[in-house]
Amino acid sequence: MLSYRHSFHAGNHADVLKHTVQSLILQSLKLKDKAFVYIDTHAGAGCYDLHSKEMDKTGEYLDGIQRLWQQDCPAALQPYLDIIKALNNDSDGQLQSYPGSPLLAKELCRRQDRLRLSELHPADFPRLQSLFEQDRRTQITKTDGFSNLRAALPPIERRGMVLIDPPYELDHEYSDVVKGVMDGLKRWASGTFAIWYPVVHSKDVSFLERKFSAAELPATLQIELNVLPANNRYGMTGSGMIVVNPPWKLKQQMEDLLPWLTTTLSQSPEAQYKLKWLVREA
Ligand SMILES: C[S@@+](CC[C@H](N)C(=O)[O-])C[C@H]1O[C@@H](n2cnc3c(N)ncnc32)[C@H](O)[C@@H]1O
Repeated sequence: MLSYRHSFHAGNHADVLKHTVQSLILQSLKLKDKAFVYIDTHAGAGCYDLHSKEMDKTGEYLDGIQRLWQQDCPAALQPYLDIIKALNNDSDGQLQSYPGSPLLAKELCRRQDRLRLSELHPADFPRLQSLFEQDRRTQITKTDGFSNLRAALPPIERRGMVLIDPPYELDHEYSDVVKGVMDGLKRWASGTFAIWYPVVHSKDVSFLERKFSAAELPATLQIELNVLPANNRYGMTGSGMIVVNPPWKLKQQMEDLLPWLTTTLSQSPEAQYKLKWLVREA
């Protein structure tokens, strides 16, 4: 069952958090000339029209990227926002399009880097493919993201990141994520694995926290931004990222950014963030 469409949600507060973290990890991989790999297990369509009929129904980007793309922002957000500004250069100061994680990676990766993307949806897959037509760095497959991840590891580059961003429509996707990362670490112990999750039911977040706090794991950081108070009832009140093997500066960067992001994206005086080690650096 593939009913989830990211076009209803593109550019919302959760995308802002996820793509901020993704951009910071890619920026830190670029500090060395040596090539790296970017693996996106659930890639989506790659780029979204913010005036589509899907988006007209939710308008979620208005409480997300719309709130910050033209503001004076902390410097660490600049590479991410520069891509959004370039994409909307011809739209008279209006936000027309929003890049998904594959398009952000396409812009942030260098000639020597490699991208490996998987997407299953029959409508989103060809849209993703068309964005990368001339891009020899990129391999795109219409396969299950976790199978594609297994096939990709260990990468020849030995450095890089994996973004795991499933729709979480099915209960088993939480345990699929845990299994995918644990298997992945056996094949590639030094890889950075960035897992996105929604804050909807606290039991699902606690499950991930428990599984990613296991002592045998490498350093693991949790980053969460709640724009509304958690209530276990009405949809997504926030979102988070769990990053296994984070770049060494990521915690400090998020410590600097999260107060600003929380104020900018809040939908309630009770908006708050969380930043903590689930497993401390050795
Ligand atoms: C949250 S969206 C991805 C958004 C994208 N990562 C971004 O940030 O722009 C999740 C995507 O996963 C796709 N999907 C669902 N199950 C999948 C699977 N088993 N393997 C690969 N893709 C899948 C859905 O069609 C959907 O496009």
